Amino acid sequence: MTMKSSRDAQPVIVTVSTPEDGPPPGLEPIADQARIVHTTDAEALRGAIGEADILMVTDFRTTIVRDAWAGAAKVQWVHATSAGVDAILFPELVDSDVPVTNARGIFDRPIAEYVLGLILAYAKDLPHTLDLQRAHHWKHRDTERIEGRQVLVVGAGSIGRAIARMLNAAGMQVTGVARHAREQDADFRAVHAVESLPGLLAEADYVVVATPLTPQTRGLFDREAFGCMKPSARFINIGRGPIVKTADLLEALRAEAIAGAALDVFEQEPLPADHPLWDTPGVIVSAHMAGDFLGWREALSAQFIDNFQRWRRGEPLQNIVDKRRGYVPVKE
Ligand SMILES: NC(=O)c1ccc[n+]([C@@H]2O[C@H](COP(=O)([O-])OP(=O)(O)OC[C@H]3O[C@@H](n4cnc5c(N)ncnc54)[C@H](OP(=O)(O)O)[C@@H]3O)[C@@H](O)[C@H]2O)c1
Repeated sequence: MTMKSSRDAQPVIVTVSTPEDGPPPGLEPIADQARIVHTTDAEALRGAIGEADILMVTDFRTTIVRDAWAGAAKVQWVHATSAGVDAILFPELVDSDVPVTNARGIFDRPIAEYVLGLILAYAKDLPHTLDLQRAHHWKHRDTERIEGRQVLVVGAGSIGRAIARMLNAAGMQVTGVARHAREQDADFRAVHAVESLPGLLAEADYVVVATPLTPQTRGLFDREAFGCMKPSARFINIGRGPIVKTADLLEALRAEAIAGAALDVFEQEPLPADHPLWDTPGVIVSAHMAGDFLGWREALSAQFIDNFQRWRRGEPLQNIVDKRRGYVPVKE
């Protein structure tokens, strides 16, 4: 088998990035341990994939890996520098023996900070304050407190747990939702099974989506789900756009069935300039950036390098994705 010999020899790492992002920074420490080939388009990947031992995929929306996969003669490991791996879990890779790892952990705390910022923006009416400032208009208002408010975090994984810790520290009451209920949890008041979602939605002041996109979570937030929420509740999605049926969300916002939606991810990205969400009252739009702190690309490369050294030593890789579930399952 080629596995041992290619680990001893200089393996070939092929990176897959968008032309806009370009090659990942921070791989210099392994420049003498591997031959690194950067690709940013389908043609280059098709040309390089045949010699690849490892694929490092930094484009979390990529479709070109699937297109080129038939030529992947000796790929032993695919690493995604994202937490969400929905785009690369195509059937040929899922059915293969090739392990997929992801960037679980890197985005946890930054996203938690972002979610706290969004909650404070709503509670303290900051978007309105900025509008008034631009209009040079002095207008006193009373604002909401966040202490004691109920937050439902749907997706009690690595990111969801960091969100819970952050919001607990701010005095909020945080409940989690996962595939399965857990008896006791250090960070959530309770973790309920997703089947209990309708009743839980009815209690929440803020609903935060932090699940991966899987066949089970696609469209999870639809008319029925929004119909369960309180008219005063705000919805925050930092997971993936297709977890939400956008038309149903728009309908709920227009009918004032919910009070607001802060959206970092969308069914269609970039959100088209003429999309109604931009101008819908109570909506905060951001450009899929909730986890992207200054230095994040270098942090992702450092995480990859750590796993690469494990791979070279023949040790178990970190963050192995359960390719059928679509994420890295929590050890129970
Ligand atoms: N906006 C951004 O910039 C950004 C950045 C990074 C990541 N993300 C998104 O965040 C997602 C979560 O990342 P993570 O690292 O926290 O993942 P993770 O650690 O793998 O956790 C996933 C959690 O989701 C739960 N889950 C899975 N399927 C579910 C279902 N059908 N119903 C309810 N809960 C379900 C899991 O439940 P169990 O524990 O019961 O298995 C687990 O608690 C990623 O997949 C990615 O899409 C977004």
